[in-house]
Amino acid sequence: MTAVTDFIPQAYTQKITQKGQFQWSAPSNIALVKYWGKKEHQIPANPSISFTLNNCKTITTLEFEPKSSDSNDFSFDLFLDGKPKEDFKPKIQKFFERIAVYVPFLKDFHFVISTENTFPHSSGIASSASGMAAMAVNLMSMEKLFNPEMADDYFWKKASFLARLGSGSACRSIKGSVVVWGKSESIKESSDLFGVEFTELIHPNFQQYQDTILLVDKGEKVVSSTVGHELMHNHPYAAQRFEQAHENLAKMKQILKDGNLKKFVELVESEALTLHSMMMTSHPYFILMKPNTLEIINKIWKFRQATDIQVCFTLDAGANVHVLYPENGKEKILQFIKDELIGYCQNQQYICDEIGVGALKLD
Ligand code: PMV
Repeated sequence: MTAVTDFIPQAYTQKITQKGQFQWSAPSNIALVKYWGKKEHQIPANPSISFTLNNCKTITTLEFEPKSSDSNDFSFDLFLDGKPKEDFKPKIQKFFERIAVYVPFLKDFHFVISTENTFPHSSGIASSASGMAAMAVNLMSMEKLFNPEMADDYFWKKASFLARLGSGSACRSIKGSVVVWGKSESIKESSDLFGVEFTELIHPNFQQYQDTILLVDKGEKVVSSTVGHELMHNHPYAAQRFEQAHENLAKMKQILKDGNLKKFVELVESEALTLHSMMMTSHPYFILMKPNTLEIINKIWKFRQATDIQVCFTLDAGANVHVLYPENGKEKILQFIKDELIGYCQNQQYICDEIGVGALKLD
C-alpha cells in the first residue's frame, strides 16, 4: 500500500544549477462511473472510472531557473496561448501551496508556465483535468533531475497524486486508457490517493471507443464543481449514492471485460443521470442541464431504439453531452449527429474525440 508520506522525498542526490525546460501534453477524461463528493485533501467520497481522451488536451511547457534571491515565495509567470494570464495565477499559487511538501524544490526556482489547449476556449469543456495533469507530469520530470534513479512506477503514481491535489479528476488524466480512482474492493490496486490504470484485459468492443462532445452551452456554469462536491455533505441521498458507485464500478469492471455494450449503455447513462439528480436534490438544488441537453438525450434514445446501434450519452458537471459509441458504428453515428443533433449545439459546434493513452512527453 502506498501512503501519503511515500510521496515526501528523501534528500535528493542531485542539484539543479542551470535553467531548463520540459514540455508535456495531458488529455481530458470522461468518467463512466462518476466522482461526486469529496473528503478533506481531495479524497474522493466514492471510486470512479474513466476513459482517457485523445484529442482534447492541454500542452504545457515548464521553464525553470534557479532563483537569484532566497525569497520564500513561489515565483512564476503564466501564459495561455502566448499571452499573460493573470486570472489563472491564484489557481496555480494554491496548487503550489498544496503540493510544496511533496516537491520541496518549488520555492528555489522561478518558473515560466506556458500552456495551450487543443479544444476551443470557453467551450464548456473544463481544462482543469488536462491542465493540472500537464503541470503534474512536468513537475515530475523536474523531480527526476534531482533523483535520476526514480522508478517509473513512482513517477506515474506521484504525477497522478500531484494532479489530484490540483483538481480531483485530473488524477485520471495521467496514464492509461481506462483509469480507476478511489479505493474499491473490486479493483485490488485502487487508491484514494491517485488514479491507477485498469489492467484487466479490455474487450475489443471498447478499443478506440469514440466520444463526440456536443457543445450545448459554452457559458460559465451556474454552480462550480467545487461547490457541487461540497453539497454532497449532508446530502439526503449521499450514503446510498456512494454505495451505488462501488457497486457500479464492480459492474463496469465486468462489462469492460465481457464487452457487453447493452449493459455498458445502461450503466453509463444511469450514472450520468444519477450525477445530475444529486445536483437536483442538493440543498440548495441546482440544474446544469439545458433544454437542448434533454432534446439530445431523447434523440439518442429514439435513434438507439430504431437502429439497435449501441450509442449512449454521458454528462459531466455541465450541459454538454458526450456521445459514446464503438468505432465500428462511427460512420452511421456521425451522420446521425450531423443530421439530428448539431442543431442543438451552440454554433453547431462539436468535437470528435476517442479513447487515448494519457500524458505524453513532447520535448
Ligand atoms: O475534478 P472535479 O472536481 O472537476 O470534479 C469532476 C466531477 C465530474 O466531472 C462531474 C465527474 C468525474 O468523475 O469526472
